[in-house]
Amino acid sequence: MNKTQINKLSIRIPDDMHVHLRRDQMLINVLPFTAYSFGRAMVKGNFNQRPIIDAGGVENYRNEILTNVDTEFNPIMSIMFVKSTTPRTVAEANEAGARVLALIPGKTSTGSDDGIALTELKKYYSVLKTVCQKKMIFSIHLELVETPEGNAIKEPERERLAIPFLKQIIKDIPGLKIVAEHVTTKELINFIKQAPDNVSATLTAHHAVLTRKDVFNEKGKIINPHNYCKPVAKTKKDRLAVTKAMTSGNPKFFFGSDSAPHPISKKMGDNPPAGIFSAPVALPLLCEIFDRKGKLNGLENFVSRFGARFYNLPLNRGKITLVREKWIVPFEYAGVGIFKAGETINWSIED
Ligand code: DOR
Repeated sequence: MNKTQINKLSIRIPDDMHVHLRRDQMLINVLPFTAYSFGRAMVKGNFNQRPIIDAGGVENYRNEILTNVDTEFNPIMSIMFVKSTTPRTVAEANEAGARVLALIPGKTSTGSDDGIALTELKKYYSVLKTVCQKKMIFSIHLELVETPEGNAIKEPERERLAIPFLKQIIKDIPGLKIVAEHVTTKELINFIKQAPDNVSATLTAHHAVLTRKDVFNEKGKIINPHNYCKPVAKTKKDRLAVTKAMTSGNPKFFFGSDSAPHPISKKMGDNPPAGIFSAPVALPLLCEIFDRKGKLNGLENFVSRFGARFYNLPLNRGKITLVREKWIVPFEYAGVGIFKAGETINWSIED
């Protein structure tokens, strides 16, 4: 018997538990896309200049976001875990409203120059203990860029080789709430599944649809810079693990877009920066992924409930409606290339 096709889906207003909104004119350009689809977003402050690392930064950045948004949208503030971070910085930032300490280890990605290395984490356990005491969240970009001996690790291996560091933190600081961000490998997904309840992960929409072949040629050269992000998309097996975890109904996995805009001019240059601008397509694309798996009824849990529950936040009030209506993704907005440009997406957000 044929199942009746669902053509309209109303869900509670969702959360994006990991986004890069940038600052100044870029923020003004990209923020409306996130605020249109999401009620809240965990905002990262990994800027090369003026990174968000303390209470003052949190206040400034929150004000900048709120001044530039005219819908109901609440940023969930974070500070970056850098070499100067102390228990005191964390406590003060928490007083100013930060709920998250976010680590992008040095040399791993955009704006991570000052990020501490995974191999140095032990020196900062007093910081992580404060995060735990304050009931904040430790958000971690889990990639190991070089071995303890200083040998470079190839991009596809970096996430898998970082798992022992996560294991160690879980053991040494029991109860610390940890989110492994934008998880891309079957190995890390399996690890998260069996980890204690205080450990969870965000998953992006792009890692559920891309493999390495959408980004690089056989020689490892980037062929589509708009699909290039960190951690890089991996194999078909990994992509399948991401979509399965996403649609599994396991509350350990929730949505974080990792939408990360960069100007087209830089993306098309010799050394394109990592980051995929997915905010304009994120929610319709997720709907399409859940639809393809016959799991539309699970979308609300993944985007609107599980993240809020882990963050100990009330659920958003109000609904957003998705309709089965095709649209073609525009190529760019304000000089930033949009993920899936030129492709058709089968679901739209109802006005
Ligand atoms: O691809 C990425 N881009 N990954 C990150 O971790 C950072 C982000 C950015 O800020 O551009």
